[in-house]
This record gives sequence, C-alpha cells and structure tokens, in this order.
Amino acid sequence: MGTPKEIFLKDYKMPDYYFDTVDLKFLLGEEKTIVNSKITVFPRVEGSKFPLVLNGDDVKLISIKVNNEDLKEDDYVLDSRHLTILSPPTGSFTLEIVNEICPQNNTSLEGLYKSSGNFCTQCEAEGFRKITFYQDRPDIMAKYTCRIEADKSLYPVLLSNGNLIEQGDLEGGKHYALWEDPFKKPSYLFALVAGKLASRDDSFVTRSGRKISLKIWTPAEDVPKTEHAMYSLKAAMKWDEDVFGLEYDLDLFNVVAVPDFNMGAMENKSLNIFNSKLVLASPETASDGDYAAILGVIGHEYFHNWTGNRVTCRDWFQLSLKEGLTVFRDQEFSSDMGSRAVKRIADVSRLRNYQFPQDSGPMAHPVRPHSYIKMDNFYTVTVYEKGAEVVRMYKTLLGSQGFREGMDLYFKRHDGQAVTCEDFYAAMRDANDADFANFLLWYSQAGTPQVKVTSSYNSDGRTFTLKFRQEVPPTPGQAVKEPMFIPVALGLLDSSGNNLGLSSIYHDGVLQSISDNDQPVYSTVLRLTKKEEEFVFTNIPERPVPSLLRGYSAPVRMETDLSDDDLFFLLAYDSDEFNRWEAGQVLARKLMLQLVSDHQHNKTLVLNSKFVEGLRSILTDSSLDKEFIAKAITLPGEGEIMDMMEVADPDAVHAVRTFIRKQLANALKAEFLAAVENNRSSAAYVFNHPELARRALKNTALAYLALLEDAETANLVLNEYKNASNMTDQFAALVAIAQKPGETRDTILADFYAKWQHDYLVVNKWLALQAMSDIPGNIENVKNLLNHKAFDLRNPNKVYSLIGGFCGSTVNFHAKDGSGYEFLGEVVMQLDKINPQVASRMVSAFSRWKRYDEHRQNLAKAQLEKILSANGLSENVFEIASKSLA
Ligand code: PHE
Ligand code: ZN
Repeated sequence: MGTPKEIFLKDYKMPDYYFDTVDLKFLLGEEKTIVNSKITVFPRVEGSKFPLVLNGDDVKLISIKVNNEDLKEDDYVLDSRHLTILSPPTGSFTLEIVNEICPQNNTSLEGLYKSSGNFCTQCEAEGFRKITFYQDRPDIMAKYTCRIEADKSLYPVLLSNGNLIEQGDLEGGKHYALWEDPFKKPSYLFALVAGKLASRDDSFVTRSGRKISLKIWTPAEDVPKTEHAMYSLKAAMKWDEDVFGLEYDLDLFNVVAVPDFNMGAMENKSLNIFNSKLVLASPETASDGDYAAILGVIGHEYFHNWTGNRVTCRDWFQLSLKEGLTVFRDQEFSSDMGSRAVKRIADVSRLRNYQFPQDSGPMAHPVRPHSYIKMDNFYTVTVYEKGAEVVRMYKTLLGSQGFREGMDLYFKRHDGQAVTCEDFYAAMRDANDADFANFLLWYSQAGTPQVKVTSSYNSDGRTFTLKFRQEVPPTPGQAVKEPMFIPVALGLLDSSGNNLGLSSIYHDGVLQSISDNDQPVYSTVLRLTKKEEEFVFTNIPERPVPSLLRGYSAPVRMETDLSDDDLFFLLAYDSDEFNRWEAGQVLARKLMLQLVSDHQHNKTLVLNSKFVEGLRSILTDSSLDKEFIAKAITLPGEGEIMDMMEVADPDAVHAVRTFIRKQLANALKAEFLAAVENNRSSAAYVFNHPELARRALKNTALAYLALLEDAETANLVLNEYKNASNMTDQFAALVAIAQKPGETRDTILADFYAKWQHDYLVVNKWLALQAMSDIPGNIENVKNLLNHKAFDLRNPNKVYSLIGGFCGSTVNFHAKDGSGYEFLGEVVMQLDKINPQVASRMVSAFSRWKRYDEHRQNLAKAQLEKILSANGLSENVFEIASKSLA
C-alpha cells in the first residue's frame, strides 16, 4: 500500500457530469450478485468534453455500454479504485454497466452484505462504490428505480427505497420486486434488503390527512419486541409536524433491524436500516437506557428525511450540516418526551466525557473538517455532538420563533439540493436579519474554547461587573486561533436565591437596555466576541451570585471565581435546573482533583463534610425530579477528571472516585435505603418519565449501597437482583453486585448468563459489564471471553461490548504492565482484516496516549508503531494510528 491520499475541502470541484436517472437491477445469488446499472448522464456545462470518472471498490466489471453500444478496451481505463470513460459523447448519454460482487464475503459491512442470512446494504459514506461503478459523491442526486430478483423461499421479502410498483414470480423458484423512488437522492441513501423477515404494521395520518403505512421488519420471532420502536416512530412523525411543520413525503416508511451493523442506524430514503439493538426492546430484555436510545435514534433517522435527505450535503466535509442539525433535533424531541433538564445534563456529560478529550487530542478537528483520509473516521462526537451544540447556539441567539423562521427559509431555499454549512448559516441570518459576528468560526476552528470569568460588585454605584477572557487552545494544524462568538446565557441571584431583575448593561462603555417593553428581564444572553471584554450590570441592589452559561449555552470550558459557598448556593437555589446540577459538578470536580493530588502525595484522604451535606439535601428534596436527583448525586466520570489533569493518573483517579463513593455510601446510608424502599417498581413496567425517574433514583442509590461491607445491604442488593421484574432493575442490581470481586459476583454473573444466553442483545450487556470492570487483573477474564461462544469478532456489537468496554476500564486498560495496551494492539490487527471501520474505532482508544505518564506513553506508542508496520493495514486504521503518533 502506498501512503494513503488525503482529501481537502479546499480542493472541492463541482462534478463535470450529473446523473438524471439510475435504474438498477440486482440478481441476488448464493455465490455472487450481478448488478446492472443504467444511468442517464448529462454534462454540467453543455458541450464540454471531459472524461467521466466513476468510483468502484471491489467490483468486477462485466460489460459497459454507452448509448447502447459496447465500449472498446481503449475507450476506458480501469484501476483498482476507478473506471474512467475517456471521451464520452458530447451532451447527454446513457451508460449501462454490468458488474459482479460478492456480498457473502463482505465482512466490512459496507456496500451489499449478508447479516444472519439476509441481504442488506450500507452506503454512507462511500459504500455505494462497493456495489457498482458510480460518481459516489453526495452532490450527484438522481432518481432511482431498483429491481431485485432472488430466490423466493430464501428471500421472500424484497425491499428498496420509495414505492413498490411491481412484483411477481419468476422461473426457477425466483421472484422479483420493482421499487421506484420519486425523490432525487445521493447514492449514500440507496438501500436494498432481501430476506426472511416479518413486520409490525401500523399507520400514521399526517396533518394534511395522508395515511402513511409504517412497517418495522425483523425476524418473525422478534416482531413482539418492536412495539416501542413503532411508538417512537409515530411520536417522532407527530413531533416533527408540531415543532417544525415537517410532514412525511411518501406513502410508506420501512425500518429494518439487522444484527450486524457498524453504526447505530442509517436514514436511507424510506428504508431506514437499524442496528437491532436500537429497535428491539421488551421490559424483560431492555433497560430504560435502551428504551431512551431507541426513542432518540428512531427519531434521529426519521428526522433525517428532511435534514439530510430532502436537503443533503454538497460534500462530506459538510457532514455536520445534516448530523449536527439532526442530533439537535433528536435531542429536542427526547427533551419534549421526557425531562428537558435531565436530557440536557446527559448530553452535556457526553460532550465532556467524549468530545472534550477528542478536541484536545491528536484527532482534534473542526465541526467541518478541512481534510480526511477515510471519511468513515469523521463520524465523530465533534461532528455530531459539538455540531449539535453549534445548532443550539443559533436557537439560543434567535429564540424558538427566530430559529423556526431560519429553518423554514433553509427548506424554502434548498429543498432538493446538496448544500453547505454556510447555506444553513445564511438562512438563519437572513430569516432574522441577525448579526452573527464571527459565528462561522465554530465550523472552522477546532479546540474547546476556555473562558475565564471574574466578577466584582460595587455597592456605591450598585453595579455588578463580569470580565471575560477567552482562549482557544492550539490543535493539530491550527496553532493560532481567533476569538470566537460565545453566547453566555445568565441570571443573577439575590441573597434569597431569586433572580434579580436586569434592565441595562454597559458594554464597551456603551449603555444598552436589555429590558423587555420596559420590564426588567430575569435572564439574558451576553455575546462575547473578543479575547477580553467586560459587561457592567446597572442597578443591582446587592452583591449577586451569578448563574453563568445557563443551560450550557455554548460548548466551552468555563472557569469562574465563584467560591465554594457560591456554588453550594447555586446548587440549592438556581432556577436553572441545569446550572444547579452544574454547580454540584464543579464542586465535585474541584474536590476530586484535590483528593487526587492528596492521593499522589500519600496523604490521608478526607471528604469535605459540606459536600456530603449538599448531596444529602438534594437526595431528600421531595420537590425535585427523581431522575434529576439521580444525576445530581452521580460524580463526574473518571475520564472527565483525567481530562482535566496535566498528566492523567488512572490509578489515582479511580482510587479517589471509589473512596468518595464509599464515604457517601456510609454517610448517606439511611437516605439511600429510603430511596430504594420508596422507589421500587410497583406495577408492570412502563416507559414514561415518572416511572423511569423512580428507577433511576432507586438504582443509583443501590449502586452506592452495594459498596458497603455489611451483610444487611449485601442481602438487600441480592434480593433486588432476584426480585427484579424488568431488565432495568435486574441489570442495575447486577452492576451493583459486580463492583465487588468474590463468590457472589461470580455466581450471579453465571446465573445471569444462564438465564439470557438465548438473547444476544442481553448477552452483549453481560459482556460489556465484565469488560468494563475495574476489579484487579480483569484482563484475564476479558481474554477468556474472547474465546467464549457468545463472542464473535465479526459482529460489531460484540466487539463494542467486549473490546470497547475493556478500553473504557480506567485501571485495567491502562495497567502499568502494558497488558491492556498489548491486548488491544493484537485485537486491532486481527480486526482490521475483517472490518476496518470497527478496527479504526477500537484503535482510537490509543489516541490519547500522550496524556499519560512516560512509562505508559512508551507502552502505548510501541503498540501504535507495531500496528502501523503491519502488512496490508487499512486506510481507516492508518489514519488514526498515524495521526495519533504525529
Ligand atoms: N448517517 C447515520 C446517522 O444517522 C450514521 C451512519 C454513518 C450510519 C455511516 C452508517 C454509516 O447518523
Ligand atoms: Zn444522523
């Protein structure tokens, strides 16, 4: 392999040819599949003469015709990745290609492949070129038909995009179906499914009165487990009409669940294909977390029909145009279906635990990357989650109404087009006549901005001053940054905890009114645009406690000069629920960092009693939402703390977090016991907010109690496991028990497997739980599980559970003897031969190696070097490994 080629945004060129219609025919066979593709082509510029370059990867050319005539050998050039037609006719022409592919042998799960005996496809980002030769880029939008022929008994169900217009039997036990998609689409949204499937059928009547047929397809025995997915789909369809005025545009919507899938799910036009884990659920087998994920992802893929499919991306650098926006939409949908504050807390935690580390490491890239080697490597938390934060900032700046007007204009201007992030920005700006300053920097500058705030109160002048200073840290390829446009939502609390009325601010020496029709406001949004600036609030009667960055109004790291007392005050009184949680987290982070330093200096660890009392009052406050309490009494993750250290110390961070949890378990035992007693599931399992909130609180308390050493609590936890009537409670009890090594742990883990061995999704949870374990020397257990009959390196979900889970274990993955790193290195090299996308995700666990001590650095570096020197390494793994070492 030569050095893989890097592709740059700045090199984007419009295509020389467009495609108008694409008629595909598939002959699905057991040994090979024959694909026939008939395309009408027209030049972008009338009369131009350019070669037509088609992408192709692992496809065998059988014949090629232009305007119905076979091309001669020297009319085209075929290399391993392209088919180039040297001088096509001037003007429009038809192109007909016949080729052969081998889905049976396709373990990359990209293109056409087989999963559990069924055929299915995955074309995003560049998988269509593994099916046939094509201009495989999203700015080529065409109308497709798809005819599928296959054995009728093996593949009774034949699906593709759009409407079914014809079907029938053929000779030799075969049958066919012809599908037509009336909407133009890029190739990455093409899909085909053929197999033995049954469906749950339902319907949805749109607000204009059209009846849409909805089908969720799975193997027959799993159909009962699709009830929640169907509920979620209908809720999403309704929500998009209510909130964005967006209606579904075809008469049929299909969802297919497959067990072998690299990602979560895929928004193919009217034929969404899902990882089964995000479709199948029953109270006995799926947890509240699974139910919530299904709701969010069913929503996400459905929402793509407008944000992604009707309006798509010009090129893959614009991925966040559809993903950031659609994640934002699914976050809002889930918020409206449950608790807004808790959803925000969960999303911000995710950003901090996964996106912040990426943004400060070797793979840091802007929301719109400048270059890539393999696009698959850029389906990242930065493009998705930080991208969603960028969309959220428009809404914070414009308000709901203004944001909606921006969305309406975006669709009005761009329906049916492939566009860029600037187009979205321009729609938001123009619909509102808004001044967005240098907002576009959010798309081009990587790195998490750091904002330092200092405050002062002047009692004579009755003014309160906030000084902000921002810094965007250097990232690979971007040494120097410009200051960003940061919206800071805030309120000021008086001494009894109420929001003070705000009427005017001096900014840059200019007095601005912020009142609303002469009435004071109780919160406002400041617009930071400079490296340093100052805002002076007038008419403030007493020294307030500022509640800053309410609702997490910008994806930054904010450091304030608030005292611990101020933070405890906010924790107790802030009207912004998110910031109440945040105040507790700031306190916890400070405390944990201090204790980590004590631990490193061999000092005795002592837990601040004020912290314990703060948590006690949250825990016993009956006015609070129970899921909020569960979040508020949960400490920041180990990753989050390591990310804040100069040199990350996994052992110390783990020791300290465990120490605090044990101390809390002791000090708050009575409260935790009450939380368990009072929140047991009473009746049958229901997935709604009040019920899942009770379970969340009960199970969080249970995990604390399980750390205690007395027989009474040990029994309690065991009984919770035995008496559990749903997976949420059963698995939570199992997790609680599995924290402590010993006989009980071993017995219960074995019991759980015996109970659930027939259900691969539950078995994956069992694998993940053990893989993530922090019990000493767990690597041996993980190695044994690699050979367990429940494990299979070819199935991504199993890899994510076992290998991914292991990489998330602070102490065992980072074991000082290097055994964890060595294990991952081996697995990555094996995996790369099977599925480069999955291997590449796994190798990413090494990317933060420079954050650790020198000893660990050397061990991890050696593994990365070994991987890079492997023969036949994929471009996917090459990109991550080489950038990590750079
Ligand atoms: N586009 C999918 C989504 O909804 C993700 C995906 C990307 C799936 C690439 C498969 C392959 O986010
Ligand atoms: Zn998406």
